[in-house]
Amino acid sequence: MKVIIRDNAKDAALWVAHRIAGAINAKAKVSKKPFVLGLPTGSTPEAVYAELARMNKAGEVSFKNVVTFNMDEYVGLPVEHPESYHSFMFRNLFDHVDIPRENIHILDGNAPDLAAECASYEEKIVAAGGFDLFFGGIGEDGHIAFNEPFSSLQSRTRVVTLTDDTIRVNSRFFGGDVNLVPKQAMSVGVATVLSAAEVIILALGPKKARAIGEAIEGPITHKNTVSSLQNHPDGIVVVDEEAAGELKLNSYKYFKAVEAAEMR
Ligand code: GLP
Repeated sequence: MKVIIRDNAKDAALWVAHRIAGAINAKAKVSKKPFVLGLPTGSTPEAVYAELARMNKAGEVSFKNVVTFNMDEYVGLPVEHPESYHSFMFRNLFDHVDIPRENIHILDGNAPDLAAECASYEEKIVAAGGFDLFFGGIGEDGHIAFNEPFSSLQSRTRVVTLTDDTIRVNSRFFGGDVNLVPKQAMSVGVATVLSAAEVIILALGPKKARAIGEAIEGPITHKNTVSSLQNHPDGIVVVDEEAAGELKLNSYKYFKAVEAAEMR
């Protein structure tokens, strides 16, 4: 696993945005096949999306041949609800870049048959050629997408029940009222994320420090599903100083030294 530590949240987000744009541009140079990109919601990716939108407007990257799959969506929340992940994605990214509408995939949390919707999502990912890159965040308890603690590390897209902790944390988007937060979601599985050629996890701020410390230095465990990245050949964790706060000093110095050596 590679760990990139930046001084602040802005620089960490810029690193991720430029990495994503660089990967899209690199594939476009050698292949006509679409770039298949997994995407998260949450407050963490907002600055990444703002930079990708800026780069798109400046002609530095195009999304015309990018196919996206979002990692999760609430069950039962109307698509037009401002806190649906559909709304979030259009507001923060898709309305600001040149991606064709038909290239965008987001799970339908109101599908009549949720299990069938999940199975068909996995089929669409395969049909698109599989993920070139999966970008994700991390929950305070170490979850990736909505793969809460004790999710199988072999899981695929399915309906999940949110933990009380996640409902409490996410209630900030619903006026602080836990009763307004959907209790279930649909989420790509841990194995779906790990099927990507490259996985980038971005974590910002002190609330993510414990989960990041455990994911990087602890054992691979279903209690912290981001720890499964240890088994991925091309996993990158990008953090600001605060999210790096629970790394051991020696690990911190090592990751900094590796990056300095690679830039030489
Ligand atoms: C939700 C999402 C995750 C996201 C997490 C952290 O649980 N399902 O994909 O990583 O929130 O969100 P934030 O970036 O707002 O801290």
